[in-house]
Amino acid sequence: MRFTKSAPLKGEITVPGDKSISHRAIMLGSLSEGTTAVTNFLEGADCLSTINCFCSMGIEISRTESEILIHGRGLHGLLAPASVLNVGNSGTTMRLLSGILAGQNFTTELTGDASIQKRPMARVITPLTFMGGSVESLRGNGCAPLCITGKHLKGIHYQSPVSSAQVKSCVLLAGLYAEGETTVTEPFLSRNHSELMLRSFGAEIFSEGTTVSIQPEPKLTGQKVVVPGDISSAAYFIAAALLIPGSELLIKNVGINPTRDGILKVCAQMNADIQVLNPRVQCGEDVADLLVKHSSLKGTVIEGALIPTLIDELPVLAVLAAFAEGTTMIRDAQELKVKESNRLDIMVHHLSAMGADVVPTEDGMIITGGKTLYGAVLDSHLDHRIAMAFAIAGMAAEGETEIARADCVNISYPGFYKDLEKLA
Ligand code: S3P
Repeated sequence: MRFTKSAPLKGEITVPGDKSISHRAIMLGSLSEGTTAVTNFLEGADCLSTINCFCSMGIEISRTESEILIHGRGLHGLLAPASVLNVGNSGTTMRLLSGILAGQNFTTELTGDASIQKRPMARVITPLTFMGGSVESLRGNGCAPLCITGKHLKGIHYQSPVSSAQVKSCVLLAGLYAEGETTVTEPFLSRNHSELMLRSFGAEIFSEGTTVSIQPEPKLTGQKVVVPGDISSAAYFIAAALLIPGSELLIKNVGINPTRDGILKVCAQMNADIQVLNPRVQCGEDVADLLVKHSSLKGTVIEGALIPTLIDELPVLAVLAAFAEGTTMIRDAQELKVKESNRLDIMVHHLSAMGADVVPTEDGMIITGGKTLYGAVLDSHLDHRIAMAFAIAGMAAEGETEIARADCVNISYPGFYKDLEKLA
């Protein structure tokens, strides 16, 4: 896929549904009694992997023109799958499902693609083992494939060493099946979609600061879920409109949950002109329309508690920083090394290849912005967020940028390139 300097982006766009919320709707819908109807479900490869896994465990999932219908079988209604469950590229499916499977009365093997087989699963194996679960990394390397034998679990208070919504959600979902209360404390608050949705489906769950507790054996009841647009997908359009002179773009129906809106805070620090319009609450989630205008950006510091609230937006924020005046420091972002690719290494490599001034650090990078960036040939490393971030860089740089293996955007945003083209 090739990109050159773009005309101004004008008009309106609605981005696809939130990936995290779409996964959770399938999972909780499956464990509920009655039918869950999901509107604006993200039909990306990751969420389809979640659907396939639950269908393999006896859940009937159907579609109407506008909705996904999940015919739940209750908390104890999953059936042993006939074969290995494949999560594809999806870390959310692998980690959240591990929590659910740890409390079943059957054994499951879970695997995924080459990337998922390299990602750390010890972070879920450890707490599930504390709970009395049996989760084995079949190659003994702390990664998938995993063999999970359902056990009688007990509630624990887990102090997570990482601020990870996947770890937190895994433990909370296992807590549905445990004896006694299950509590998780994380260093900084990560996205809280599981907590919000569990509560709306009927679980007894209580959050205070960075600690959340759940009671076992709730009666979960099917709900109507309207999925907001994914702020992580909106991020590429925000960045494009900020960088390309003359742009003015209205991005409609974007989820702005405060555990996900770090990009808006950082853009404000960078002097970006973004108006949050028509704020509303939809199925417990904050939603708004974003009016984004081209802006002269300045460098900033991105660190600490902000990091989990913009973890998936860091590649495109690094691109913004390369075009901003002054220095941007990204710190505390070591988690990026264990995403779909090693995003720290790849961001530094690709930005440097385009001529940016980037110095890698242990847990982030220092970007001195304002140099002219030139097109380059860049590999996506099969990481959807790398492909999309550098598509935007290519639309703001001089010359032509070629993204190799650009199809990986199907993981979270199948129509991405078409949507971009429509606006420019
Ligand atoms: C997600 C949590 C984050 C995020 C991922 C989706 C989720 O991962 O990067 O894209 O849906 O819970 P971590 O929990 O590993 O930070």
